[in-house]
Amino acid sequence: MNGIRVLGTGRHIPSRCVTNDDMAQIVETSDQWIQERTGICRRHFCGEGEGNTSNAFAAAKLAMERAGVGPEDIGICVAATFTADHGTPSLACELHHLLGLPESAPSFDVNAACTGFLHALEAARCYLAAGDPSAPCALVVGSEVLSRVTDFTDRSTCVLFGDGAGAAVIRLDDTVPQATVLGARGDDQVLRCPGIGQEKAYIYMDGKAVFRFAVDAFPKSIHAVLDKAGLTLEDVDHIVCHQANARIIDFVIRKLKAPEEKFYKNIQEYGNTSAASIPIALDEMVEKGIARPGETLLLVGFGGGLTWGGTLLRL
Ligand code: UT7
Repeated sequence: MNGIRVLGTGRHIPSRCVTNDDMAQIVETSDQWIQERTGICRRHFCGEGEGNTSNAFAAAKLAMERAGVGPEDIGICVAATFTADHGTPSLACELHHLLGLPESAPSFDVNAACTGFLHALEAARCYLAAGDPSAPCALVVGSEVLSRVTDFTDRSTCVLFGDGAGAAVIRLDDTVPQATVLGARGDDQVLRCPGIGQEKAYIYMDGKAVFRFAVDAFPKSIHAVLDKAGLTLEDVDHIVCHQANARIIDFVIRKLKAPEEKFYKNIQEYGNTSAASIPIALDEMVEKGIARPGETLLLVGFGGGLTWGGTLLRL
């Protein structure tokens, strides 16, 4: 069936913790408004000497250690980001260098905004399944420095985002159903960000339109993954949603009439970290013992592009 087995996860959260009260010193907002509308209490921004590559490196190194694999075991490295430190080399190639991965391991970035980690996972899975990889494992990373593309004069967006990185080492497993769905609907109006270096290279968002898109895309993606796998919601131990707004996740729980405890939420701690949010949540769940070996997880996301998708994996 060539599904995904996770061997190890890691995350790195940058050092500067910024509370809602801190944000209220920058723009006209309040802790109450931010918590009620989004569920966010604080977020973390890169401090001195921290950046996308260093965050991603720390997360990836930890994931490899926990997976018990060395560089020679990595057959491909895919990083999801739209805020890499450089245009080139890609984040994945920087990791390739820092981790000493073998020359036979292709390494590249994907940009599918907040759905990036799911696209990166699927690219890695397909490569392992289709090719003749020199090594059996893939290193998949989601890492963003959204503080770099945040307009700190716009209260409707700046309170939402955070920086961070998450990583997973995966391999194929015949006993795990392969059930990925990915989709796109090109639209540069509701959510966009000019390239870094361009004038006003900030995230622009029509929050209400994105909200409407999200509450439609999440349940559809979850149903599509379950259908493809021939499973029901009861067969899945945890749903790991992209963390964009706690109200979006609550809406999906109500719509699916699903048990609330199946849906992990950590947006209160990190805000929306785009491509990093799903692997950060995954790592936290494993570390806290919420997600345990042998359990089946359904990951689901949506984001700029517009993009959406979901996949199934087993720990
Ligand atoms: O990763 C994917 C990217 N993004 C998303 O998933 C975001 C999806 N959208 C959302 O999460 C929500 O739409 C937001 C959190 C962005 C906004 O929440 P909302 O309930 O849709 O609020 P709104 O935009 O309708 O604004 C309501 C009011 C407005 O004031 P008036 O016109 O009612 O007087 C805003 O000006 O809240 C005001 N407002 C704020 N007030 C205090 C907007 N931002 C703030 C703020 N603090 N930070």
